[in-house]
Amino acid sequence: MAAARKIIIDTDPGQDDAIAILLALASPELDVLGLTAVAGNVPLALTEKNARKICELAGQPQTRVFAGAVRPLARPLVTAEHVHGRTGLDGPDLPEPTMSLEKQYAVDFIVETLMREPAGSVTLCALGPLTNLALAMIREPAIVPRIGEIVLMGGGYFEQGNVTPSAEFNIYVDPQAADVVFSAGAPIVMMPLDVTHKALTTRKRVDVFRVMGTRVGTATAELLDFFERFDEQKYGTDGGPLHDPCVIAYLLEPTLFSGRHCNVAVETRSELTMGATVVDWWHVSGRPRNAMVMRDIDADGFFALIAERLARL
Ligand code: RIB
Ligand code: CA
Repeated sequence: MAAARKIIIDTDPGQDDAIAILLALASPELDVLGLTAVAGNVPLALTEKNARKICELAGQPQTRVFAGAVRPLARPLVTAEHVHGRTGLDGPDLPEPTMSLEKQYAVDFIVETLMREPAGSVTLCALGPLTNLALAMIREPAIVPRIGEIVLMGGGYFEQGNVTPSAEFNIYVDPQAADVVFSAGAPIVMMPLDVTHKALTTRKRVDVFRVMGTRVGTATAELLDFFERFDEQKYGTDGGPLHDPCVIAYLLEPTLFSGRHCNVAVETRSELTMGATVVDWWHVSGRPRNAMVMRDIDADGFFALIAERLARL
C-alpha cells in the first residue's frame, strides 16, 4: 500500500464532525497528524473536549488534539446548540476525556507542520468555520504553496443556505476567514450543501450502525438519531444531511463525488447575504477557478464506506 496520506482535520464537533473523525481514524490510508478544534457549532472549550471524546471512542487516545480560535476573525461567534445540543455531541453518553489537550496553539501547529513536512504532502480537511486556516495563512503566508489540498465542507449555491436564506453555517460564522481561504490560491475541494443534502441519514442507513453491535456503532446511531431530528423537521425528509464525512470520504473514494472546477467567491459586505458562496458555475465572471465544487454523490456508496470502516473500530 502507498504511504498513508497525511492530513490535519480542523473541526467543530458536532455530531457530523464526529463521524468524519471516526471515519478518518478507522482508515489506514490516512495519517491523521492532528485534530485542530475551532469555535463553531459550540464554543471552543466544548469543541476541543468533544474532539478528545471522539478519539477515545475510536480507541485512539494517542491522537493529537489542539485548541485553536475561540471566535471568528471579525464577527461575534454564532453557535448551533439548537442543532447539536448543549454539549455539541448530544445523543450518546460519552465519558469525559482522559487524554490531554496539546499545549501548542492549533494555528501554530498548522503552520509548523506545513513548514516541516515536504511541500504538497499535507491535506487540510476543514469541517467547521475556517478561522484556524485563515489565521495560519495570515501568520505565515509561506504555508499556502506548501498545502497539498484543502478539502472543506462549507457553502451552498443551488441549495442556497441553511443558517440564513443564502449562507451555510461554516461560512456564515466566519465569512472573512472563508474569503482569506478561498482567495489564497491553494487547491480547494468544496463539499457544499448541494452535495451534502443528497446524503441523508435515513432510518435504514442509521439502523446499519444500530445493529453493528459495537460501542462505535451504537454511539454513531445515537449521534445520528439526535443530529438528524432538527433537519428532518425543517426539510420534512427521512433523515438529515450528513455533511462533514463527505470530506473524509472524498479522500478515501473520490469517485463517489462529481462536480465542476469553478470560481467561488464569498460575500463579506452585505448583511443580507453575508457568508454566501457565489459559485460561477457557468464561468461567466472571468475570475480564477479556485475550487472543485462537488454537486453529486453516490449516497449508497458513501454510507456503505462509512459503515464498513466504522465496523473496524
Ligand atoms: O452547515 C453544516 C456544517 O455546519 C457542518 O460542518 C456542521 O458540523 C456545522 O459545523
Ligand atoms: Ca462541522
